[in-house]
Amino acid sequence: MQAAVDKIVDEFAVSDEKLFELLDAFQKQATEGLQKSTERGMPMIPTYMTKVPKGTEKGTYLAADLGGTNFRVCSVTLDGNHGHNLVQEKWPVPHDLQVGSSKEFFKFLAKKVQDFLCKHHEEHMERSDSEFRMGFTFSFPVDQHSTNSGTLLRWTKGFDIKDAVGKDVTELFQQELDALDLKVHIAAIVNDTVGALMARSYHNDNPSQTIVGCIFGTGTNAAYFEKVKRIGKFKGKCDAKIMAVNTEWGSFDNDLTVLPNTRFDVALNKLTANRDFHMFEKRVSGMFLGELLRQVLLELNSSGLMFKGSESHILTEPWGTDTSVPSIMETDTSDDLTLVGEQLQQHFGLDSTLDERRATLAIAHAIGTRAAYIAATAVCGLLKLTEALDIFDSVDIGGDGSVFEFYPNFVQNIRKAMRVLIGDDEQRVTFGLAKDGSGVGAALCALEQE
Ligand code: GLC
Repeated sequence: MQAAVDKIVDEFAVSDEKLFELLDAFQKQATEGLQKSTERGMPMIPTYMTKVPKGTEKGTYLAADLGGTNFRVCSVTLDGNHGHNLVQEKWPVPHDLQVGSSKEFFKFLAKKVQDFLCKHHEEHMERSDSEFRMGFTFSFPVDQHSTNSGTLLRWTKGFDIKDAVGKDVTELFQQELDALDLKVHIAAIVNDTVGALMARSYHNDNPSQTIVGCIFGTGTNAAYFEKVKRIGKFKGKCDAKIMAVNTEWGSFDNDLTVLPNTRFDVALNKLTANRDFHMFEKRVSGMFLGELLRQVLLELNSSGLMFKGSESHILTEPWGTDTSVPSIMETDTSDDLTLVGEQLQQHFGLDSTLDERRATLAIAHAIGTRAAYIAATAVCGLLKLTEALDIFDSVDIGGDGSVFEFYPNFVQNIRKAMRVLIGDDEQRVTFGLAKDGSGVGAALCALEQE
């Protein structure tokens, strides 16, 4: 067993040479994406958001947030002094709606907005002349045509509402809001990364410059401020000098020219609805880290090397885990690895020996570390692309998502790989939580229109 485990851990290791290779490829593919859109390239979507928040913005706005398994509605009050207040409700999105028809799906969302308004904004429902401006944080690749319109390129993260692809999602949602006569106007469609970027800029009251907003959660992605003149493919009208670009870096290296590709990655890809797309995301984000672990344990079990005593396990069932499993395992410092044992039992029905628990932890650690190292190449890719470290003394990155916030040592491991890639400059980069990014960011984008 030990020899097999060591070999697998080795297969997940990322050498310094590989890091540089990935960094080069990222810069190249991102630059290409800014010039032209192709089906398999990095989307690099111009978002039409051109104002960097100052922290002095004011007002109350609605935000609807669909990013993964939950739908959230909030009203956000910006206090004009880097602060905000937020009232929110959230609901899980039933799985059948995630893979059903767009009509039923947007009807469900509109109904939840109605429930929220009835509970928290009775005054709005009673006055016929009032209209709420809403930012719609829709965290999927949308090819934007303006601040509040755009067509869905493809679904990610397990969603698969086929008839919505190629449609204007704002229009689909607005129709259902209007059908309920809610007097809510979708003033902006916002990717969660753009929300993170805006919210972090709004809250940031120190001199370091926020230039990137990134998400490491169920999925992974980043948005950053780019010079409009460098976005070669942008043909819209724009007087501003900079614009937020939604990279959709989950689609970095879809053709696998440089990304590591173990047999476990191959098997995982085959199980996904967006097969052969978002290949970077499938190695980095929360939806996939637990599944990669399952793939490895399954192989070791099938070849008779691990968990021989467990007969009625459920290792063969895909997607039985989320990131919380490797994440909790990695916090285990007990001598007999109690937490690792509990997770194996709870999620896979596995009884384990101490050696098996040690082996499992080593594998989880290898998968999590590879994720952070690969992620670092994309972060440094954006720093290089923007030349931010040549322009500013210190550069700030706003982040959000379960992996960013809770995966043990994830950000520290990103920094470790950054040190390899950019040396001491790594110390001039700060990472911070983009607090309430999807709500505050959506409000800031809804406001931008005025
Ligand atoms: C997926 C989506 C992207 C989103 C990211 C994080 O990669 O395609 O739009 O930003 O997940 O939620």
